[in-house]
Amino acid sequence: MNSTIETRDLHTLPPLPYSQGALEPVISATTIKFHYGKHHRGYVETLSTLVAGTELADLTLSRIIAETAGRTDKVAIFNNAAQAWNHGFYWRSLRPKGGGEPPAALKHRIEASFANLDACKEALVTASTTQFGSGWVWLVQDADRLKVVKTGNAETPLVKNMKPLLTIDVWEHAYYLDYQNRRADYVRAVLDKLINWGFAADGLG
Ligand code: FE2
Repeated sequence: MNSTIETRDLHTLPPLPYSQGALEPVISATTIKFHYGKHHRGYVETLSTLVAGTELADLTLSRIIAETAGRTDKVAIFNNAAQAWNHGFYWRSLRPKGGGEPPAALKHRIEASFANLDACKEALVTASTTQFGSGWVWLVQDADRLKVVKTGNAETPLVKNMKPLLTIDVWEHAYYLDYQNRRADYVRAVLDKLINWGFAADGLG
């Protein structure tokens, strides 16, 4: 890490909201050590290098994402900015002893958009297994409806006029050490034991 990154607020690695072992046994400390400490850190550091000295250098992550989305001359900046944002959002979408029942306000919104909570969770699992290659699955608010969407690689609903409520990372680096190729088992375990419904409820508009 260079000194530029250490002294700037916008593109520093945000702290994990819990210890690296706090999500065990669903996600191992070893997975978090590499996922947070190498992958997430790598996106943040690469972004900081790419924007240094440019007009993007002092913008927030979400502004950088908005400014570079769809621009063929800014693909690397978009990818690293979106991955930095997506990972920060992912860590907050999880919590130790998560899962269970959503807060009432969120549960009512889920039941208005899906048959019930189980159908919403199953839609997230299906999205994960039908996402070809690396990407993300999301619960989003789209106008008054809640939807499950999936995005490939670094893509994010932030630039699709949808409000992300929670996400699950389905890149192999998120689960391969613990689940090998069993992506659906990882997503089900996260939904049952780690998902932070309270965080999603706080995001409702
Ligand atoms: Fe990741």
